[in-house]
Parts: sequence; structure tokens; C-alpha cells
Amino acid sequence: MASDVVTMDKIVALCKRRGFVFPASEIYGGIANTYDYGHYGVLLLQNVKAEWWKAMLQDRDDVVALDSAIIQHPKVWQSSGHLDGFSDPLVQCLGRCKKRFRLDHLQEAAVEAGEDPALVVCPNCGGELSEPREFNLMFKTQIGTVEESASTVYLRPETAQGIFVDFKQVLAISRKKPPFGIAQIGKSFRNEITPGNFIFRTLEFEQMEMEFFVPPSESTEWYEHWKQQRFDWYTKLGVRADHLRLRPHDEDELSHYSSRTADVEYLFPIGWSELEGVADRGDFDLTQHSKGAKTKIEVYDEATKERYVPHVIEPAAGVGRATLAFLVDAYDEEEVEGDVRTVLRLHPRLAPIKVAVFPLVKKDGQPELAKEIRDTLRRVGQTEYDESGAIGKRYRRQDEIGTPWCVTVDHQTLEDRTVTVRDRDSLEQTRVPIDELVALFAGRLAQDWVSPKPQD
Ligand code: GAP
Repeated sequence: MASDVVTMDKIVALCKRRGFVFPASEIYGGIANTYDYGHYGVLLLQNVKAEWWKAMLQDRDDVVALDSAIIQHPKVWQSSGHLDGFSDPLVQCLGRCKKRFRLDHLQEAAVEAGEDPALVVCPNCGGELSEPREFNLMFKTQIGTVEESASTVYLRPETAQGIFVDFKQVLAISRKKPPFGIAQIGKSFRNEITPGNFIFRTLEFEQMEMEFFVPPSESTEWYEHWKQQRFDWYTKLGVRADHLRLRPHDEDELSHYSSRTADVEYLFPIGWSELEGVADRGDFDLTQHSKGAKTKIEVYDEATKERYVPHVIEPAAGVGRATLAFLVDAYDEEEVEGDVRTVLRLHPRLAPIKVAVFPLVKKDGQPELAKEIRDTLRRVGQTEYDESGAIGKRYRRQDEIGTPWCVTVDHQTLEDRTVTVRDRDSLEQTRVPIDELVALFAGRLAQDWVSPKPQD
């Protein structure tokens, strides 16, 4: 990443400084792999999710929405294979530090370093490691008031199963038949063993998952379709194409339900890592729930007059992980008038604040007019009004949170009702009549956008 100045430490620091994301329960020393999102973080997450919904629902006719429960019947996880198969090989350091690791991760690192994976030791203190044991990633809890009589339930580790168990219901009411998809965004929970690299891997996280049900003979065509669609979603939102790749899984990496999977990977500062997976789940899930719930889950094909179990192509993404990629890809520094300017070159539709409005000075009726303009611009999207401190500082603050446009009211505005519009990326300032601002920004938000960050 020769010309890219971004590091994970810079992202973590910016997120904390500007209140995007910070450790949860920090006054108690924090809790491992768990983060809270502040004002700008929430706005950014909302925009990421809105773009995903738009791509799934508004831009096509063959996907419907769902919001299923986090706590499902425990048998769901029996049938889905998560109770038996959703585990990682855990080893613990028997030496000084007693830390826990995923054996498969240590072995992969050893192979990459040209070392014998059978001889791995604790990467922290060099101690001997325990025998591996399979560690189920699902969080358990209970329904009921008395613990002994309570029934064990699980926090869902993926949103997908809610879609499979509701498939019959949705089929009956949505007036859709395969090929069609059911999309959902919601929280999932995993008792992850390994350190998280900020919000890349957390214990609770939101997923954006879509299960696309197809006639079995069409699964390859739709698998290719969704791989491309999902890759393109990131580039259309400004992620540099040379920092994205599609990587097919090797046979031994496949999840228990998948016959083929390709990951959309992003070149994070920690190296190429999974952003989202596109999996061919075949008829695994519907067949398992059919058996588990003792109910037929099938579709009637009018043409062949036969019933069949649809196959499923699943693009599954993480909201936090996508957000981290957008932040990393947008982060830039450049020298302006002898100072280093930090700027988030976010796609304008992802930017938490679309337009910031400033009075140049806090007098002569400028604040009142600036507030009036800000009120008019609310219809374009999230806005901010700021009158504190030097104008240069106000611009820098907006640069750091990725605000694409700043509008400044000055003495000329009171004479001719024009303002300056400053562009975050080019730093160009143009004079625009107040009456044209809404159309200008609405038009720019609807346009395609290419990151001005250099490709490596
Ligand atoms: N339903 C399929 C499924 O859950 P996955 O590859 O395990 O597949 C899909 O998860 C996506 O969810 C990942 O690509 C990642 O973006 C996100 N994800 C998974 N585990 C995560 C974690 N512990 N923290 C943050 N995001 C996670």
C-alpha cells in the first residue's frame, strides 16, 4: 500500500476523537471485542444499511424484507447444524500468559511463515499449547424465571436461519416464487475467541443477509450474479476496485452448509480479509428444517407440475466490517498550506453529515441567515450548523468526519444572496445562489462518485 497513509491505529484514533466508535463500558476498563457507536458512527451505520436495503429492495423487484427474532426455538440450531458444527478449535497457552487462541489461525500463520504448523507455540510468550478443544461460538441463555427449570436458548449467530424458518410463511404471502430473495438486517452474536482488530471482529455485530431461493438448475447462474452484484456494491460506493477482490474458498474452508463460497475481500491495513461471503447453501437449510420441524418446505413448479426444494445463494455481509472498510478506504492525509489535513473521502451518500453551514463571523445577521439556510437544507439530508472558532478549524473538523460540502455565509451573502460552497475533496470554493443549493446537493447525492484517492 505504497501511497496509502492509512493504518488501523489512525482509524481507531479518529473514530475515538470524533466519536464514531469507542470501546464499550470504558469507565470499567472496557469489555473485549465490544464497541459503542457515537453520533457520527450511528449516522454512518444507518447510511451503510440504507444503501444495502436500496440495492436489495428499491433497485430490484425480486427481493422482499424480513425482520425475524434474535431468539428462535432452540431446535432451529439443532436442525441448522450450529449446535454441533459451529465451533472453532480452541487452544490455551500452558506457559506464562494463559491466553487463548484459535489453533487454525496459528497454523495458517505458521504455514505463511514457512514453519511447521504441527509445532506451533504460544505467539505471545512462546509457551506450550494445550490440546485443542472444539469451542461452540453460540451464546447461551435461558427463558424462564427459575434457572433449573428454564429452557436453554441461544442468541442467533447468523440472521439467515430466521429467513429459512419463515420461508413457507413468506412464500405464502409475498406473491413471489423462485428465483426470489428474502433480505434481513439485524444483530448476531458470536463468542469469538480471537482478538478482534477493532470492529472487524466483535462479539455482537449487525449482519446484512439475503437468502436468494432458486430452482436447483439455476444455482450457478445466480451464484455468479450475486458475486458480481456484491463486488459492484462496494465499488459503486467508492471503494477502490484495486483494494477489493473475490476469493473462492478452498474445500477445507467451507462452512458445514456450503458447497461453494467466494469471499469479497478488502485490503485492510491488516492485509486482505473477508468483507462478506457469497455462499451456495444448496438445499441444506430448507431440507434440515423440513426434517427438524416435520413439515414439507417445497415449491410447486407450474411448468413441470412438480414440487422441489429450492437452492439458496446467500450474500452475507457485516455492517460494522463494511463500515470499517469504508472508513479505511476513505481515510486520507494531505498537506494544505503547510499543515497536514486529515480527510475522510467518504461517498457523499455514506457521509454522516451531508452539508455543514457556517456564518463567516458571528455578527451582522450572518448566523441568522446561516441557520435559515441550514433549515432549508434539512430536506437534502443530515446537516450541521457551526459558528464556533476560526473558519479554517471548522472546515478541518468537517473534513475529518467526511462532510462533502460546507456552505459559508459571508458579508456578500447579505447583499446578493449567494454563498460559498466548499468541496471537501478538491477544496474548490464556488459561489452559488441560496435558491439553487437544494437542487445542487440533491443532484450531487444522486450522482455516481469515484474516490479521488490514488489507486496503488
Ligand atoms: N449466514 C452466513 C454467515 O453468517 P459468515 O461468513 O460467518 O456467514 C457473514 O458471516 C459476515 O458477517 C462476514 O463476512 C462478516 O462481514 C460478518 N461477521 C461475521 N462474524 C463477525 C464478527 N464476529 N464480527 C463482525 N462481523 C462479523
